[in-house]
Amino acid sequence: MTKILMVCLGNICRSPLAQGILETYLPKELFYVDSAGTAAYHIGKQPDYRSIATAKDHNIDISHQSARQFNAKDFDTFDYIYVMDSSNYNNISHLAKSDKDLKKVSLILDQNPNLQLKDVPDPYYGDRSDFNHVYNVLNSTCQIIAKKLKAS
Ligand code: 4NP
Repeated sequence: MTKILMVCLGNICRSPLAQGILETYLPKELFYVDSAGTAAYHIGKQPDYRSIATAKDHNIDISHQSARQFNAKDFDTFDYIYVMDSSNYNNISHLAKSDKDLKKVSLILDQNPNLQLKDVPDPYYGDRSDFNHVYNVLNSTCQIIAKKLKAS
């Protein structure tokens, strides 16, 4: 089983969407996808209602997800850790215990050569168009990631 973790700040906007999208492109018998936040603000909460609605527009149900905080043990559990932005990268890299841990972490948009963008913009203080933009950026990137993972 290959295990993939999506990470953002709050685990209520971007990474739950990334998890829900990637799950649709991978067979669940072979791949486990989860998400977490670097901050503790929203532990136990459902994804933001705007992320739930955006996912639903694309027939993806993320309403069952529950926010949790990233933990150093996640380095042992997961094979690939995709962070949404460079601030998440800094937070996670400080928790890495080894080079092996650190090598698992990458900026998710580094997987997508078709985008100039480096960071998935934080839509928390935005509106539904910002969430749609996040969806589009994550959807095109998750397709590339899934293709690579299935080929490896
Ligand atoms: P996320 O968005 O990291 O994509 O889940 C945010 C969620 C909550 C906050 C910031 C960003 N917050 O400040 O509470």
